Amino acid sequence: MEPYISVKNVSHVYPGGVTAIKDINLDIHEGEIVAILGSNGSGKTTLVKHFNGLLKPTTGEVKIGDLNTRKERISKLSSHVGYVFQNPNHQTFLPSVRQELAYGCKNLKMSEEETDTRVQRAIELFQLHDRLDDNPFDLNSSQRKEVAMASIMAVSPKVIVLDEPTTGQDHKGCKRVLELVKMFKEEGHIVVLITHDMHLIGELNCRTVVMNQSEKIADDHASVVFSDKNIMAEAGLQPPQITHFANEISHFDPNRTYLTVESILEWMEANQEEDVKVGTRS
Ligand SMILES: Nc1ncnc2c1ncn2[C@@H]1O[C@H](COP(=O)(O)OP(=O)(O)O)[C@@H](O)[C@H]1O
Ligand SMILES: [Mg+2]
Repeated sequence: MEPYISVKNVSHVYPGGVTAIKDINLDIHEGEIVAILGSNGSGKTTLVKHFNGLLKPTTGEVKIGDLNTRKERISKLSSHVGYVFQNPNHQTFLPSVRQELAYGCKNLKMSEEETDTRVQRAIELFQLHDRLDDNPFDLNSSQRKEVAMASIMAVSPKVIVLDEPTTGQDHKGCKRVLELVKMFKEEGHIVVLITHDMHLIGELNCRTVVMNQSEKIADDHASVVFSDKNIMAEAGLQPPQITHFANEISHFDPNRTYLTVESILEWMEANQEEDVKVGTRS
């Protein structure tokens, strides 16, 4: 199957001379959720800004479906790739939630009827009925982020890119992000999310790309990446506590990496008949 997003040998040098990403290759297919991990300044945001043409490669090529981002307008690309900024203040600027939800569709010159249908659907999906007349700036930051996601959802681009959606969110906010990512996938979207939240990646049980000093240093399923001690150390990352715990206990299957509490409970249930010895793997 042809990838929907194809990044080939892409480097990006900012006008000041900083090389923010170096020779990146990455293919993303229909139906995937891809997490991008890495410390601050490793190039994550620069990479995803290439998907909707906000940035063009200095060298190399990015294709979205059949479109070469170098040759297309941002407006056209944004109907295929929606980008939810890390800071919702950079994205919400209209005086009511209702107007905010319609903005993307209007920008793409959709008819009023089409816009209404799509906005209505976003209202349903995000349960925003009571907030339509609110000014986005009167909402708290997690509600504002949700409005930004809903307005992208109204456009319904194939790809939804979330830049650090859980940063600054409390436990409830983080759980909501998890639900939303799952909903986006169910709705048929490809989801690319930049996150420091190892627990979220564990729950999503998804493909994980690791960036370090402008380069891609890993690209595999989270369970493989999280159990690679060298990669984790190089990128300065800690696996979820539960993975760390399971890795230290010998009676868990050493060939599996446990990403969630549920996966360990499942193992325990399956093995409760056996007299397992508890010990630490040396
Ligand atoms: N607009 C910009 N102009 C110049 N340098 C930038 C700009 N944006 C980011 N950088 C630099 O590019 C590198 C990668 O940044 P970024 O992609 O934002 O990383 P991340 O999202 O992983 O924190 C950093 O060294 C950062 O300082
Ligand atoms: Mg960033």
